[in-house]
Amino acid sequence: MAKKTTFICEVCGYETFKWMGKCPRCTGWDTIKEFNFDKDDAHTRVKPVIITDEELPEERIILGIGEMDRVLGSGLTRGSSILLGGDPGIGKTTLCFEIVSRMAGLGLEVLYVSGEESLRQLSSRRKRLNLTNPFPILNTNRLDDILQAITDKTYNMVVIDSIQSIYNSKLPMLPGSVSQIKDVSSRLIREMKQTETTHVFIGHVTKEGAIAGPKILEHMVDTVLYFEGDKMLPYRMLRAIKNRFGPVDEIGIFQMQKEGLISVENPSEFFVSERGDIGSGSTLFPHITGSRPIILEVQAITPKTNFSIPRRLSLGYDLSRLFILIAVLEKVLGRPFFDRDVYVNVTGGMKVGETAIDLSVAASILSSYKDVNIGKDTALFGEIGLTGEIRKTVNMDIRLRECERLGITRVFCPRGAERVAGMEVIPVKNVRELFEHIA
Ligand SMILES: Nc1ncnc2c1ncn2[C@@H]1O[C@H](COP(=O)(O)OP(=O)(O)O)[C@@H](O)[C@H]1O
Ligand SMILES: [Mg+2]
Repeated sequence: MAKKTTFICEVCGYETFKWMGKCPRCTGWDTIKEFNFDKDDAHTRVKPVIITDEELPEERIILGIGEMDRVLGSGLTRGSSILLGGDPGIGKTTLCFEIVSRMAGLGLEVLYVSGEESLRQLSSRRKRLNLTNPFPILNTNRLDDILQAITDKTYNMVVIDSIQSIYNSKLPMLPGSVSQIKDVSSRLIREMKQTETTHVFIGHVTKEGAIAGPKILEHMVDTVLYFEGDKMLPYRMLRAIKNRFGPVDEIGIFQMQKEGLISVENPSEFFVSERGDIGSGSTLFPHITGSRPIILEVQAITPKTNFSIPRRLSLGYDLSRLFILIAVLEKVLGRPFFDRDVYVNVTGGMKVGETAIDLSVAASILSSYKDVNIGKDTALFGEIGLTGEIRKTVNMDIRLRECERLGITRVFCPRGAERVAGMEVIPVKNVRELFEHIA
């Protein structure tokens, strides 16, 4: 086998054909090291083929974990490579244990590779999660062991927990370094794509995030999932950042319990049940993520400022839009916020990208400013334009139906929404009309 020599920075993975004392990318000194890769010359010729649907049907495995299937796009695609990223302790191992156990229950061959926990820890975890279907676990940190295992037997799915803990002993860098992660994952992807083995790489998001974290793998895999949530709260969100086999705007919501993760199929109820009544400065917004509506609470406070330039801060709502929205409100209503800070928060840690939230944000700000209680039987949605006009949004009927389902009796929305029996659907033309309604 021929050898190919390159020089790679141990820290950032910068590649060059000649040695340098200082890495031009990360500016580290003496971080560039020489590597000899085996050049794969024994390669069989590949010929072009004509593909027709009958010959290569797409195969999906429905896991029966509702929220997971939804995010993947109706099940797991055979032979796909998936990256599951998230903070340490968020529940990645728990989720994968449940997936692997489900698949074992479906009679599929699965392998769980753990480079992080001992067999004893894994066994007590299995007991705690009440997983009945047994599945094989390979407890190793070495790439060679995994390659051997997948050559000895063909699996339907292999989980690597975590990609940062596996290393190629032929490379001198530490496990978890960029070059190790790239090398290990590219070899595993190559091998498992050949046998159509679905594979999941678990990756910890590190402080250095972009460079040393799972980000560097994103372009190599078919699907990138991030598992997120506030560790203090019992629910977790699974979000697809990239998906070659499904949508990217769906989110899956799980409840984290001692016995494992439970799919939350009606998240509005989940968010709503967390809350008693809502005070001034809070409004409800029917949000659409992917194909599903979720009712969220949007909060605002507008205290007198102590700064020469008042502050505007926002969590879950785009800050630039907040500046524009305040400018629009000031133009229509005079200048009520010139001496006030404005803080906006979407509860539950949700980040809303839709402009349909504008009306709810505006109403929360006005409700806080006027100290009027809009209450939890009212919801609002609609985009606000620069002249203060309320513009139509997509899926107005889905939003209204979700509001109806949750017992909301009054909805402010753009004109053109359908009537719903038993519910007061109030079309608003512009910000002034909204102000007259709530003030
Ligand atoms: N013995 C236990 N009892 C209850 N909850 C536990 C126990 N062990 C771990 N957990 C919960 O499981 C979560 C850890 O999930 P885990 O799947 O190990 O995370 P990750 O793999 O993302 O690091 C923690 O948030 C913790 O609250
Ligand atoms: Mg883990």
